[in-house]
Amino acid sequence: MRAVCLPDGFRLERLSRLHRRSGFTSGEPAVDSWLRTKALQNQEKHLSVTTVLLDDAHEIAGSYTLATGQVDFGDLPIEFIRRLPRRMLPVAVLAWLGVSQNRHGSGLGRRLLAQALRDCFEAGRTFPFVAVILDCINDKAKAFYRRWDFRDLPGHPYRLFLSTKALEAMMTDAE
Ligand SMILES: CC(C)(COP(=O)(O)OP(=O)(O)OC[C@H]1O[C@@H](n2cnc3c(N)ncnc32)[C@H](O)[C@@H]1OP(=O)(O)O)[C@@H](O)C(=O)NCCC(=O)NCCS
Repeated sequence: MRAVCLPDGFRLERLSRLHRRSGFTSGEPAVDSWLRTKALQNQEKHLSVTTVLLDDAHEIAGSYTLATGQVDFGDLPIEFIRRLPRRMLPVAVLAWLGVSQNRHGSGLGRRLLAQALRDCFEAGRTFPFVAVILDCINDKAKAFYRRWDFRDLPGHPYRLFLSTKALEAMMTDAE
């Protein structure tokens, strides 16, 4: 599987205290507040891991957060659950994703999403899950994610999922 190609001068790092979080503005207050005030605390409690995209001035140009979760068997589409046990099922959760507002439209969101899915794929080799789930913050975010293979989760208008099978196909195609 190929690495996600970042534009020159950009790099990915795991969020730490060294990163200047307070100035990050994606244009979506909930996303900004998460990164500024909660992402590091949650990471220190082993609840999630946030990856930041840094520019050559060491400013945060974007970020995404991954976590683990569970979904109820009954919440998944019928065609998807045929061979799965009737219980809570493990999922990877793409909890947050944002790009600095002054860099929207330059392909960074797409790259961050690709990297987040690649991280999920790699983690899935040792910690299995049946799907990647994400909660969209609004219709605009949903439109962004729907451009990839994410599907609606019945009964949850702002929750999308990508089956592990689809994730594997996506990653294999990218090889
Ligand atoms: C959503 C977001 C991450 C997109 O980042 P971005 O860097 O502007 O996106 P990209 O430049 O990589 O765009 C990738 C593609 O998606 C499209 N796209 C971007 N935002 C879109 C939207 N809201 N709806 C539909 N398509 C969108 C782009 O046109 C582009 O298409 P193309 O490849 O055909 O040119 C960014 O707008 C953002 O940070 N928004 C605020 C935070 C947020 O809503 N996060 C998501 C929920 S947690």
